[in-house]
This record gives sequence, structure tokens and C-alpha cells, in this order.
Amino acid sequence: MTFPVSRPRRLRATAAMRDLVAETTLSTSDLVAPLFVREGIESPQPIVSLPGVLQHTLGSLGDEVAVLHDLGVRGVILFGVPARKDEIGSGAWSPDGIVQQALADLRSRFGDDIVLMADLCVDEYTSHGHCGIIGSDGEVDNDATLEIYARTAVSQATAGAHLVAPSGMMDGQVGAIRGALDDAGFDSTAIMAYSAKYASALYGPFRDAVDVRIAGGGHRHGYQQDPRNRRESLREVAEDIEQGADIVLVKPALAYLDVIADVRAAFDHPVAAYHVSGEYSMIKAAAERGWIDHDATALEHLGSIKRAGADIILTYFARWFAETRA
Ligand code: PBG
Repeated sequence: MTFPVSRPRRLRATAAMRDLVAETTLSTSDLVAPLFVREGIESPQPIVSLPGVLQHTLGSLGDEVAVLHDLGVRGVILFGVPARKDEIGSGAWSPDGIVQQALADLRSRFGDDIVLMADLCVDEYTSHGHCGIIGSDGEVDNDATLEIYARTAVSQATAGAHLVAPSGMMDGQVGAIRGALDDAGFDSTAIMAYSAKYASALYGPFRDAVDVRIAGGGHRHGYQQDPRNRRESLREVAEDIEQGADIVLVKPALAYLDVIADVRAAFDHPVAAYHVSGEYSMIKAAAERGWIDHDATALEHLGSIKRAGADIILTYFARWFAETRA
């Protein structure tokens, strides 16, 4: 009888040993909570396809951020749901837009104690649901859209954002925003670029959360990346870093762990990954049926995103995770 020489199982024998040799750790300070704030509502509204997540009023948003802050969460990213939408999404840069009001409130209440991030896009604000201005050919006009992104960045920084996060996948968006922020004196406002963002079916529940229905075929294949492509993401990230991105983000997370690992290996900038609405809701729905273990699956997902190379994870599980550690 021969015996194996190597016995990796020695290191799996006890919980203490497993903790000691664990290669990855997940902490509350790695997580950013996405939060929705809606104009013109009296009380917070549940989002059916995103269980446990709410469309907040300005008041309930402040309370939620206070809870997250006390639990040790270091960042929140805001998405606005305006009362009115128009062709060009002007609510995105209006000085009294819903996100601007929220940023001003939160900045005066929390100061620099939590990183206030603003998602920078116009799809929540346009009547057609696209991430930019529609040109005469019916397609999203890249360069016309850069102008409104620049305006939105300055408006969000003025309102109190520490960081803006362009998510529209227009070419040149990071450079346009960096230039506009610097010209307006906001040279210390950071940019987290959604650099590698795929045209994913996993954003479904999010679109319910922000009341978006996309006109003209209902998709964003003309500007978001094709899920079949991997190498293209390195080009997207390189260009965003060149244009001044401080943090680069990959989205969604789990179906794109190869991309997260590639970006981690190729660049030294902080890497963020967005565990998106569909990824969260799949766990909620299956757990509700008793088909999977909610807590174990959520931990496995978040831990795997970290293992793949993400430093920062945007996740609807942020509060739950922080509470389980508290
Ligand atoms: C665009 C944006 C989207 C998400 C974040 N920013 C939707 C989209 O690209 O259609 C999706 C996030 C999620 O699914 O949780 N403003």
C-alpha cells in the first residue's frame, strides 16, 4: 500500500487552522452599499424584485446611511429616481435634483466619515431609458453625451460627492469628467470608472428599482460590452486609467471573475467589482424557496469576488454582511 506524500487536508482539519491559512478575507470595510433615493414619495417603497432594498425618501436615506456608518461600512453609492424624466435626462445635473439634495444632506450630516459616491449616468433620468442623448440616427450620441456627463459630475461634486462613478460606457467619459472637475476646482474629487461594464441580463431588478424601461429594442448592446469578450476589458481599463480613473470597476461580478482577475494582474489601481441586482436577487429567490442556504451562498459569492482580485465590492448585501459581523 502506498500513501500520499502531500496531505493538504492537514490544513483543513479545524476551523482555527482553516482561518489561519485562509488566503482571502472579506471585511465590512471592503463593501459599498448601493442606495436608491426617489423624489416625491412620502415613505420608503419596497422594490419587489430586490427584496430588502428600498427606494428611500431623503429622510429614510439619512437613517440608512447612519446605520451603515455605525456598522463600519465605508462607502455608499447613490442612484436617483426623479419625479419627471425628459429626453436629455436633465434631472441628472439639476442643482436641486434628487441626488444633489441627498448628497448635500448626507455631506452636512456625515462630513468625511463615509465616502459619498454618486453613480454618474442619465438612464434613470431619460424618458427613453438610455444612458445618453439620442442622436438623429436613433443611436446614443457619444460626444453630445460627454457634455452632459461633465455637467453632471460638476453638479454632483458641488453637492458634496467625494467620488463620481461614470457608468454609461461612453468612449472618453473619464477624460471628459476629469477635465470638467479640474476646471471647476474639484481636483480632489475621485473617479471610480465602470471601466469593464457588460450588456448583462443581470441588471433586471435594478431597472425596476429606478423605473427604467429601455426604448428601441430594450437593450444597451450599442455601448455596453459584449459578454463574449475578455481581452477588450483590458483595453477599456487601460484607457480609463490613462484618462484619470482612480478606481476601476468590473460589472457584473460573478460571471466575469476572469475579467476581475485579468484587471487585477495587469494594473495596480484599486479594483472594484459590482455584485449586481440580478446576482443578489437570484440568491434571495432561491433561498426563499429553500433551495439554497442564503447566508452561505452570499458569503461564498462575495468571498469569491474578493479571491478573484477585487479590493472593493459594491453589493446589496453590505448591510446584511456588516450586521452578521457586528
Ligand atoms: C446605469 C447603471 C445600471 C446599473 C448600475 N448603473 C443599469 C444599466 O446599465 O442598465 C445596474 C446595477 C445593478 O443591476 O445592480 N446607470
